[in-house]
Amino acid sequence: MRIVLLGPPGAGKGTQAKLLSEQYGIPMIVAGDILRERAKVDEGIKRYVESGRLVPDEVITGIIEKRLEEDDTREGFILDGFPRSLEQARALQEYLESRGQKLDHVVFIDIPEELLVKRLSSRRICENCGAIYNLITNPPAEDERCDICGGRLYQREDDKEEVVRKRLEVYKKETEPLVSFYEELSVLRKIPGNGAVEEVYARIVDVIESHGN
Ligand code: AP5
Repeated sequence: MRIVLLGPPGAGKGTQAKLLSEQYGIPMIVAGDILRERAKVDEGIKRYVESGRLVPDEVITGIIEKRLEEDDTREGFILDGFPRSLEQARALQEYLESRGQKLDHVVFIDIPEELLVKRLSSRRICENCGAIYNLITNPPAEDERCDICGGRLYQREDDKEEVVRKRLEVYKKETEPLVSFYEELSVLRKIPGNGAVEEVYARIVDVIESHGN
């Protein structure tokens, strides 16, 4: 099954990608995580990511296509954070078509903007295993430590309020048009992203299973 998770920054894409990857036994490919890893050794990428601007289409498209060549994607994948512009969406369509494949579901997690800034400014991530926490809605048992592996929790550079505002602006301009793009291809599944993590997850599974997988 080939799934794309679409939604504004902080909609819960990463949180849900992890659950879906476990449920369906297919890898999650997280564009932001790949780019943050690269940013450690590439100043150019670092500047884009930390300022909330999109890395150039050809850079990220090349990275994702290479990742999709790997063996573990044979049964499918969950793409989180890619595509993020019309150009990326078209490139992905062409790439999949050239392999005789197509997307099964583009899950659009829809959520009011005022919730996003609050969620992102209280997000913390484990530097060791990548587990995602929220100081308000899903706090760790011990301050600043991961419940799963004991790793230190950190705040992403781009989760500072002014960068979050920039990311939202970029989302509206570059990424929101993908909703109609995928609607026209009849693969868009829109679900409300408010409510507890488990509720949102149940909505996604429901919409995927009701459309057949
Ligand atoms: P990226 O890492 O993809 O950031 P994003 O899309 O802005 O998404 P986030 O990771 O911030 O949010 P999320 O939806 O995954 O939410 P999460 O589950 O963590 O991209 C970062 C940067 O990389 C971009 O700005 C750009 O520079 C670059 N980049 C990435 N992809 C690119 C591309 N394709 N092209 C070009 N550049 C690219 O949840 C957020 C918080 O809410 C957490 O604290 C979580 O615990 C909490 N939460 C989640 N669900 C719920 C719930 N139901 N109730 C309460 N709290 C919840």
